[in-house]
Amino acid sequence: MNARPPSARRGVRLVGTGRCLPEKTLSNAQLERMMDTSDEWIVQRTGIRMRHVVDRDRGESTLGLASEALRRALADASIDPLDLDLLVLATMTSEMMCPPTACRVVHAAGATRAAAFDLNGACSGFVFSLNVAHELVRGGAYRTVAVVGADTLSVHMDYCTAGRGTAILFGDGAGAVILRATDDATKGLLAHSMHTDGTGWMEIYIPYHPTDFPEGTPPDPSRFGHVQMNGSSVFKFAVSTFPQLIQETLDKAGLTADDVDMFVCHQSNRRILDAARARFGLPEDKLYVNIDRVGNTVAASVPMCLDELRRAGRVREGMKVMFVAFGGGLTWGSSLWQL
Ligand code: UT7
Repeated sequence: MNARPPSARRGVRLVGTGRCLPEKTLSNAQLERMMDTSDEWIVQRTGIRMRHVVDRDRGESTLGLASEALRRALADASIDPLDLDLLVLATMTSEMMCPPTACRVVHAAGATRAAAFDLNGACSGFVFSLNVAHELVRGGAYRTVAVVGADTLSVHMDYCTAGRGTAILFGDGAGAVILRATDDATKGLLAHSMHTDGTGWMEIYIPYHPTDFPEGTPPDPSRFGHVQMNGSSVFKFAVSTFPQLIQETLDKAGLTADDVDMFVCHQSNRRILDAARARFGLPEDKLYVNIDRVGNTVAASVPMCLDELRRAGRVREGMKVMFVAFGGGLTWGSSLWQL
């Protein structure tokens, strides 16, 4: 904790990033052998060619991916794990209901001084967590905070023809960022936005009990533990919401899309990303896409993109970057940064 006069406005710097993917891959050709689908259908409808999935027989899970992504981000920032004050772990695939996975992640990474908690915002979880973490640093409560997005949805897929609309979409991974207080008050959030619409909860859910099914859907134990998604309904929601969210965030900051150097969006479906890019007339290199290689990795999607971009030198200090995500809940949110 830092004792500072409340009037001293401080900035927030993004000082490091990291990511971790499981080694095992799942290609469209492999999916063709597991269910009635085709590489052509998947590429045309989603843009996905490959995903990475955890090997549970080797003990891989959200915990290991998140811990490694955090270690890599701390190393990138040249920060000793013992200097970390707080970890916010965005995930909808915690190891267990209790303890929060974040507590085990800080232990695994040697960040034993840090407080830690999980935040479940489904696919919007990382962006929501980033906004929360930023405010805790800017407000003076913490100096060095990590935000990790990690998910392993492959564990909750039904890899058969009945589940094909959902199973082709998701992959596993983790991404991490390190935020640090700075006296340069120009750095940090320029605007953000967070929304939910609980009436749409049944568009994406994972049932565990007969009472978890929405009204009108007969309880079916064979679906327990598997993601249930109304793909076309979520698709329509996303195509209209993404551009609205971007515009709302630009308006709050008094900026235009041209002022933003890079849009880092949740990788849900290539067609959703293309629609948002077309709406703002953005050149291809200003809205990053990696869904072809990793699929939809839920809360890991945005920070994994950011890490790829930073390591390629395409996102640098001094740039304006907008993070955008939407997902189960329904939830949607944005975070516009002056890096
Ligand atoms: O991360 C945030 C949450 N999720 C999303 O963002 C997902 C958003 N939704 C989507 O990305 C798309 O809706 C999907 C990729 C999930 C599905 O694509 P779609 O173009 O909306 O397909 P659809 O569900 O409307 O199905 C069209 C047809 C159906 O056949 P009929 O009834 O027209 O004969 C499906 O049975 O495509 C069929 N189909 C498939 N065919 C081959 C559905 N999944 C598959 C498949 N392979 N994997």
